[in-house]
Amino acid sequence: MTARLANKRIVLGVSGGIAAYKSADLIRRLRDAGAEVQVVMTAAAQSFITPLTLQALSGNPVHTDLLDPAAEAAMGHIELARWADLVLVAPASADCLARLAQGVANDLLTTLWLATKAKLAVAPAMNQQMWAAPATRANLATLQARGVAVFGPAAGSQACGDVGEGRMLESVELANACADQFESGLLTGRHVVITAGPTREALDPVRYLSNHSSGKMGFAIAEACVEAGARVTLIAGPVSLPTPARLRRVNVVSADEMLLAAQAAVEGADVFVATAAVADYRPARVAEQKIKKSADVIALELIKNPDIVATIAARPDRPFVLGFAAETEKVIEHAREKLLRKKLDMIACNDVARADIGFQSDDNALTVIWADGDRHLDKAGKTVIARQLVELLAERLLQK
Ligand code: C5P
Repeated sequence: MTARLANKRIVLGVSGGIAAYKSADLIRRLRDAGAEVQVVMTAAAQSFITPLTLQALSGNPVHTDLLDPAAEAAMGHIELARWADLVLVAPASADCLARLAQGVANDLLTTLWLATKAKLAVAPAMNQQMWAAPATRANLATLQARGVAVFGPAAGSQACGDVGEGRMLESVELANACADQFESGLLTGRHVVITAGPTREALDPVRYLSNHSSGKMGFAIAEACVEAGARVTLIAGPVSLPTPARLRRVNVVSADEMLLAAQAAVEGADVFVATAAVADYRPARVAEQKIKKSADVIALELIKNPDIVATIAARPDRPFVLGFAAETEKVIEHAREKLLRKKLDMIACNDVARADIGFQSDDNALTVIWADGDRHLDKAGKTVIARQLVELLAERLLQK
């Protein structure tokens, strides 16, 4: 999270609600992660928490008034609107959501909301019945349709005694959600080519040899690279995953096709990441017609597929190459051998003997190895592991 919030400028709008006390802690968390915070409070917010508290925590004067000449002279609403990278309203009361949705500009926060080009987000907080009210739902839909991010709310017991949806998210969750709005910038200006998923090697028009790779790890790495500011080409075998935003996807079926696509894409690229579980062999002949049931035992002749990652690593203009190794025993030893044999810059190894991680799972754990070092990434969701791997990759890339 830290990398993505470093030097980011966040306007935190606080509207009237008991959850305003959580905003105090949110400011601290955002600042700890390296962000600068300017606080704007509505009149109602000041009945729940004092501007002085939020001023002390943010390290900046709190903005409360649209029509105060002294405040406008210090940092006017337009200046504040231009300053922000993100405007988050937390808590966003039902009244505040209504005004934001309608474009009412009757106080500093709602005026600034209209005047900014920054990313916009709200963290709703209100009684569960108010949250469920058709008017609130309609206001929320309007804001979402305009690209406003909505953080939460969570369900649980409420200050009014009710139980249900409408609690503001906790400050840690809100800080993470803010970080998610930004790219890390670690790979800005870099072109990354990634292979993902299995390959399918045809036996006849209806049958093929393949494996259980889901493509999830490769897709998560592609997303993490986009988030880190890279231009990404994702070469995908047959998988049933939606295309992540802001990248180019090239669909392939066989290892041969994947190699062709990779060769074309790596021209001038900075990084090649081979997560694909490429079939090692393909049938020597592809039958033109469906193979008929015949003898009790039939033999399949298989020939070796090209090694895509080794082929890319052997190019004179080779990019930085990160390979994967799925091993069931002597994981580190085998991976280090593969690093040398395939001339990779880095290798990430999965322990596929573990049932709780790997191929079809949403979780993974990796040991990442390079010529003079290694790092273990503990079991976590593939999105989290992918981000950590991209951080390591960016570090090594800079040292090359
Ligand atoms: O040799 P092994 O298949 O274990 O190596 C795994 C690594 O090599 C992975 O990064 C995989 O994407 C890559 N590979 C490849 N082409 C192949 C076989 C593996 O790019 N034909």
